[in-house]
Amino acid sequence: MAYIVRRLPEYPNDRVLVGPKTFADAGIYKISDEMALVGTLDFFTPVVNNPYDYGQIAAANALSDVYAMGGKPLTAMNILCYPLKSLDKDVLVEILKGGADKVNEAGAAVVGGHTLQDNEIKYGLSVTGIIHPDKIVTNAGARAGDMLVLTKPLGTGLIISAIKANKVFEEDISIVTKSMVLLNKTASEVMLEVGASACTDITGFGLMGHAYEMAEASRVTLSFFAERIPVFEGCERYVRMGLIPGVSKLSKKYLKDVIRIDSRVREGLVDVLFDSQTSGGLLISISKEKSETLCAKLKERGVMVTGIIGEVCERMDVSIIVSP
Ligand code: CO
Ligand code: CO
Repeated sequence: MAYIVRRLPEYPNDRVLVGPKTFADAGIYKISDEMALVGTLDFFTPVVNNPYDYGQIAAANALSDVYAMGGKPLTAMNILCYPLKSLDKDVLVEILKGGADKVNEAGAAVVGGHTLQDNEIKYGLSVTGIIHPDKIVTNAGARAGDMLVLTKPLGTGLIISAIKANKVFEEDISIVTKSMVLLNKTASEVMLEVGASACTDITGFGLMGHAYEMAEASRVTLSFFAERIPVFEGCERYVRMGLIPGVSKLSKKYLKDVIRIDSRVREGLVDVLFDSQTSGGLLISISKEKSETLCAKLKERGVMVTGIIGEVCERMDVSIIVSP
């Protein structure tokens, strides 16, 4: 997307604190010295077959960027596309109910929305939140010496792809759904309590894609220890079954010159690192001194962290290094 955004004209505006230039998928607009607005939007086709779960996932995913920046969501608007003739209306009610319940859990309110007839269902939300202008966490603050922490396992893209191909192992559906409906709220609160230098949520571009954005925005190199990265057990079998989503393949191809991967890291795991995520966790960059406290507090509050998964280095010839 960055290469498309780069072709657009720039419209300088002092109140835009975070805009398209930082490669982030959310923006921040300053209202006063004490308050700024966070705006973000995301929507997609169904990722699971249960409409209520799909609604919850879409909402958790849409709210995620506000949490990644350390903001507090206030309002949400629905975006819903649906085939008028063929679809059972109860399905739409379930999707919207899932979304509304999740927004409510986040302490925010659905205040409206827009629907459109389309061949395929698409659902998501536009979310508005608030943040203190001096307390914004962006993907541009990672510093050499920081540690990296990831708050949800990887592999949702592979499992969703298996669901769509009717080749999924039943047990994976509930595991991946549980993770995707989980708000990044707690992870964000703990991050703010402890104090992080940078953060991004892991979504469509996968861990490697969003880590690349962080490395570029912060002008550093990120070094990952592949075996320490949390991954859904069993998702590598979908790599062997040829179910790698198209976007994940593209991401791997696009980033091949900026990432150096140790040949000892097995190929199946490499594909999981590039796997496109839906409602993924937060990738947090934090000083070494605070990193243990962060992991301990996250675990205490039920967040699925495995610990330190990498570290931030001075800028090298590549943006990312992956070792076993
Ligand atoms: Co996003
Ligand atoms: Co994001």
